[in-house]
Parts: sequence; C-alpha cells; structure tokens
Amino acid sequence: MLEKTPADALPMIRHRYETMAEHLRSIRARTGKPLTLAEKILYAHWEDRGEGLPERGSTTAALRPDRVAMQDATAQMAILQFMTAGRTTVAVPTTVHCDHLVRARVGAIEDLEAAETTNKEVYDFLASSAAKYGMGFWRPGSGIIHQVLLEHYAFPGGLMIGTDSHTPNAGGLGMLAIGVGGADAVDVMVGFPWELLWPKLVGVRLTGELSGWTSGKDVILKLAGMLTVAGGTNKIVEYFGPGTASLSCTAKATVTNMGAELGATTSVFPFDRRMGDYLRATGREAWARLAEAASAHLTADPEVLAQPDRFYDQVVEIDLSALEPHIVGPHTPDLARPVSRMGADVREHAYPVELKAALIGSCTNSSYEDIGRAAHVAREARKHGLKARVPFLVTPGSEQVRATIERDGLLADLEAIGGTVLANACGPCIGQWERSDTKSGEKNAILTSYNRNFPRRNDGNPQTHAFIASPEVVTAYALAGRLDRDPIREGVAGPDGERVQLSPPRAEEFPPRGFETGRSAYVPPSDHAAGAVVQVDPKSERLALLAPFDPVDPVEGYRDLPVLLKAKGKCTTDHISPAGPWLRYRGHLDRISDNMFSGADNAFTAKPGTAYNVHTGSEDQAAAAVAREYKARGQGWVAIGDRNYGEGSSREHAAMSPRYLGARVVISRSFARIHETNLKKQGILPLVFCNPGDWERVRRDDRLSFLGLQELVPGQSVRVRIAHADGSTEEFEANHSLTREQVAWFRAGSALNLIRLQEQG
Ligand code: F3S
Repeated sequence: MLEKTPADALPMIRHRYETMAEHLRSIRARTGKPLTLAEKILYAHWEDRGEGLPERGSTTAALRPDRVAMQDATAQMAILQFMTAGRTTVAVPTTVHCDHLVRARVGAIEDLEAAETTNKEVYDFLASSAAKYGMGFWRPGSGIIHQVLLEHYAFPGGLMIGTDSHTPNAGGLGMLAIGVGGADAVDVMVGFPWELLWPKLVGVRLTGELSGWTSGKDVILKLAGMLTVAGGTNKIVEYFGPGTASLSCTAKATVTNMGAELGATTSVFPFDRRMGDYLRATGREAWARLAEAASAHLTADPEVLAQPDRFYDQVVEIDLSALEPHIVGPHTPDLARPVSRMGADVREHAYPVELKAALIGSCTNSSYEDIGRAAHVAREARKHGLKARVPFLVTPGSEQVRATIERDGLLADLEAIGGTVLANACGPCIGQWERSDTKSGEKNAILTSYNRNFPRRNDGNPQTHAFIASPEVVTAYALAGRLDRDPIREGVAGPDGERVQLSPPRAEEFPPRGFETGRSAYVPPSDHAAGAVVQVDPKSERLALLAPFDPVDPVEGYRDLPVLLKAKGKCTTDHISPAGPWLRYRGHLDRISDNMFSGADNAFTAKPGTAYNVHTGSEDQAAAAVAREYKARGQGWVAIGDRNYGEGSSREHAAMSPRYLGARVVISRSFARIHETNLKKQGILPLVFCNPGDWERVRRDDRLSFLGLQELVPGQSVRVRIAHADGSTEEFEANHSLTREQVAWFRAGSALNLIRLQEQG
C-alpha cells in the first residue's frame, strides 16, 4: 500500500510484529539459543536463502528493511538512479528530508528563504520525484531527518536504512536504524534485498540512575571515551540493564545517534514504558499498544540478560549514578573527560581558554526535554542578570519541537540570554555556517551539543577546536564564556563579579499541553503519479537525469583495453571520487566525474590524479580528461587497484563515475567489500589477482584482454591476456566473486538495467 501519511504505517507495523513472532520461533528451533534484541530484529528481517544461519562478523546476509529515509544531499543521486530502473513507485515506504542544504547565516526565517532560492532546482527535483514515485517529502524547515523520523516513523523492532550516518538515532525508539550510502537505498527502493555484514554485538549494561547535570549525552560521551572511535566497527551496540529506564526515549535517541561516532553499525535500546510514552505523546497510541503486546520480542531474552558475557562479544558497564557530566574534544569525540577535569586539560594542552561560540540543538540533542533543560539554565541565569558571553545559537530539530518550545516560552528563555534561533536544519552541524566572528585559520574554541567535531566540520576552519557536551552544559559554558573554569561546580561570574551558582537543570519530558505541529511542511505523494512530471532544469549544473549504462559486448568490449590507472598504495573512495567542493555536483554525474581519480596515486605518472594517455604519450593530463578522450573514441579502459581498493565511505559516485567514463574492469590485489559490490551494480567487472604479484606485470602502455566473459559463471576464474608494447604477450588468472544474479547484472550492463528489463516483462 502506498504510504500517504506516517499514520498509514500501522498495518505494516502490525504485520511486522506478527511475522516477527513466527520468524523467531523458527530461529529458536534452529539455534536452540536465547537471542539478544539486535538478533531478534535482524532475524525478523532476514531473507533465508538456504545458506545456513549467518555468523557474526563473517556472513553477509540479505535483509528486508521496513523503510528508507534520505536527506536532500544524498537523495539526489539515489533518486536519479532509481528512475533508471523503470519502476513506477518505490518498493518500500520512503521519505525525503530537506535539511542539509540550509546555510546558517542570520536566523531561521532569512536563512530558510535564502535556501529556498539557492537550492530551488534541487528542492523542485526532490519534490516532484517524491510525488511521482510514491515518497513522502518533508520540505525545508520541517526538520532534521532523524528528529522527523523519531517523531513520525520510527517504531520498536523495525529495520530502517537511511542515507545519513546518524540514522541510528531511531535506536532510541527500539528500531534498528542503519546509515548507508545511496546505492544501498536504491537497492531497497527498487525491491532488492539489502546486504549487511552480520554484526558482532557489544552489550552495554546501564545501572543506577541519571541525576543532576548528568544526561543521556554523558552516557555516550563516556562510552566514546571507553570504546574509542573504532570500537564499534561492524558491531551493534545494544543497551540493557536497569539503568535504561532512567533515560527518556529522546535521551536514548541521543545515545544511539552518537553510536555512529564509535563506528558502530547501529545502536539500540530495548522497548520500555518510556518508548510507549513517547509514541503516545507523538500521536501514535495504536503503535504503542502494538509494541506493548509484542514486547517479549522487543527486548533481549531473560537468559541473555542473566549471563550477558555469554551472548555478547563484549560487555561494558556504566553506572549512571556515578556518571559525571562530560565534555569531549577537540577534533575527536573519544577524547572524553568529566567537566570537572576540563580546566586542567585546557591548561595542560594549551587549548584556547576563551570560548568563541556555543551551539545547542541539532538532530542529536533538540528534544523538548533537551531544550527544556537548557532553558532552565537560561532562566536561572536571567534571574541573576546573566547573559551568554558568546554567540549562542539554537537549532531546533524539527518544526514540531520549534513550534512547541516557542508556545511554551522555552525559546523566549534562550533568546532572553542572547540566543539566536536558527532554521530547523543541519546548518553549523554540517559546515553550513557562515561564521563572522573569526577568520579562517584563526585558532579558536567552540562548544556544541552536536555529534561530530573533526577539524573543519562546523565552520570549515581547521583551527577551530570543537568540543561537545550536553545542551545544558553548553548553555552553562555560554554564560561563562571560557573553558578553563567549571561552570557547574565553580559557578559563573555575575555582572557584579560575584559567582552565581547554577542549580541542576530540570525539565518536563513532554509538553504538558501536547506538541504543536507548527507550519506543517509535509507533502504526501501525488494522487496522480502517472501524470506527474519530474522537474529537472536542462541547464542545471547541479542535476542531470541519468541515461542507463549500455550493456557491453562480452567479447569485443573487453579486448585490448588500455590501463588508465594503476593505483599505488591506498586508494579509498575518497581518492576515486573526492568530496569537498565536488559535493555540489553530486546530482550531476557528468560534472562530478571530472573529479575521477583526482586523489589517486597512479604508478604510471608522477603527479596524483593524472594518467598516461596511450594515444598522445602525455603523462600529466587529469585522469578524468584522459578517460573522456578514450570514451570519445568508443574505447573502454581498465583500472588496477592495490590492496583493499575502494575502502572508506560507500560513496556510489566512486563506481558510477568510472562506469560513466568507460571503465570496464577493475583488477585489484583485494577490494573493500562495499565498493566491490557497487562496481558490480554499475556493470563494472571487479577481478582479484589470483597471484597478487601479477600486479607488478602490468605496464603503462599495455593492452589487456579478458577472455571467455561470454561464459562467465560464479566460482570460475577469468584469464587475462597482457599485450605489451614490445609485441610480447603473457597471461594471468584473476578471480571474481559474482553470484549468478550478479552475472545477470553484468550481462545487462548494470543491476538497475536488469530491473528495468524485468519491469518491461
Ligand atoms: Fe544534520 Fe548534523 Fe544531524 S548534519 S543530520 S544535524 S549530524
């Protein structure tokens, strides 16, 4: 059924809980073991292909997510690709959220107006394609993707993928929500299963109770310090224990949101009363009742809770009663210390003493409760005649939160101490901040309640030292204006020089008068989808419709191909398709392809990003320019990779640009798994040298032929013939990992071509 409004998800949720019970019965019969919560949700969405039960850390399993969510920056190429598959509507409920492209400059109203003008072509495209293909569309100003998802779509026990790394925010409402690249979203939107490395599990046992200045934010800041930024890689972080009840649903979401900072696949909390309360407060009484009835499936089995060390790969314990408010940074979220030690760290490491700006809100920390706690601090400060000593910026996570905190006077409390309210969008959290108080290159310190703090993240300035804390702690520091004194224990200097002691913040979890919807900016899919037209300005430099990639003749198309690149050492997706200024063109494949390999070290040339041109003998042309010349001659080409070629983010452009500019094959010593799959999806053949030493044999003026591709089958290697410029030839073997279905992608020219052919019958 087409999802017109969020409420339409109810039958899907009911069905999910019914099938979950059946799936878990059968899995229990097969494993004979109790299950953790993460396992229950994964198994409930697992597609059993008869290959045995998945193993943690080693099996790539096929899953069927309940939903897809995309933000405006990543949605562009995902939707353009989806359109080439020829489907009339998305296969699972999907929403698009306009939040990343709004720049923070003056304040909410002006910044939003400016964004509507600057990004008009992108918004028009997203709105019209959402209307046509059955996606829900959240206009700019409606809120930040993760907050909107929590308020309207997340449900306990569900599985969602989102094209943004903080999608795990929905884990606060008991959902497995995983950040992915656009290519994965396209898979699910067209109806493919989604593949995931079956994760290992970290169990985090919470005991005790939060109190005083300590909040959910401090749980995750503390954990980041314990596990480090790599501690969650290929793992799900699952919380359990009596302390979980001490966190509100939105505080839990703050914790799972920042699980991304541990590199975790996702994080999740077990269903409890506070999640039910949140569902009810956000108008989802029926969802709450369904979850309560299914609650046995929405928590780990009692045997797991009794002996966690037996069932999680790692167990960590945090006593909330002993937890102090924390502050992390600069430059990395795992540099954690209690606020009480911050002054000593500032002196020891010569961090800037003076605070230049304080920012609260974002997708991570802008619930009614979060803003309420910050507003409590502000009210107290005002009573004592205190004001923020630095620019104090407030980003509400959604229009629902903004309208409610405005009605209830909380925004006024923050404005009264000098707060500026920004648009309900990402703004300074993603570098969309036109800062006027410091020059780029100037060493300075800022404190935010966001989630990321690597250099340049907020303002593009590598010398900005960004620290992270909870909104109430950030507010206290905004009043203090300096980092070397602890505003909680030592108080804040008042206008007369006396120190003002701030009392611990308290706030309501939910608005006593219910949430306001504000200026609703949700646009449902069109009732007249067939006649709807997707709007793409033909003169746009940011967007261009995609033409499907042509299939390549398996004999002629793979004969005597020149080698454009022989990557030396690390070649990540960022070397293949760098981001930065190129992101502007992420919806325009032709424009963005000019960046192809511009960060890669080519063994054939002296300068990174260049390629040897076999026709002209030039050595200093940009690799993309050489590829364009080959393409104009109708000539395909090969790239050679070193070890773990394509590691890094799952950026689909790193496979699309090479395919667009004529790559036929990439041979490497080894591949990063996601990139290898992305190459297959785009119709490029990824091969691995059977003998890694054969990498040395390939010279810059060689021609490579790939033999027997018309009979390509899973499990059989491919013979590669090298014709050297001196007339000699030699051969080597290369392996591939294509399944039967992926061989069909290869023959069709791409995975989406295959879907289109199937759609056409
Ligand atoms: Fe936006 Fe920052 Fe969250 S960029 S989605 S507010 S992490």
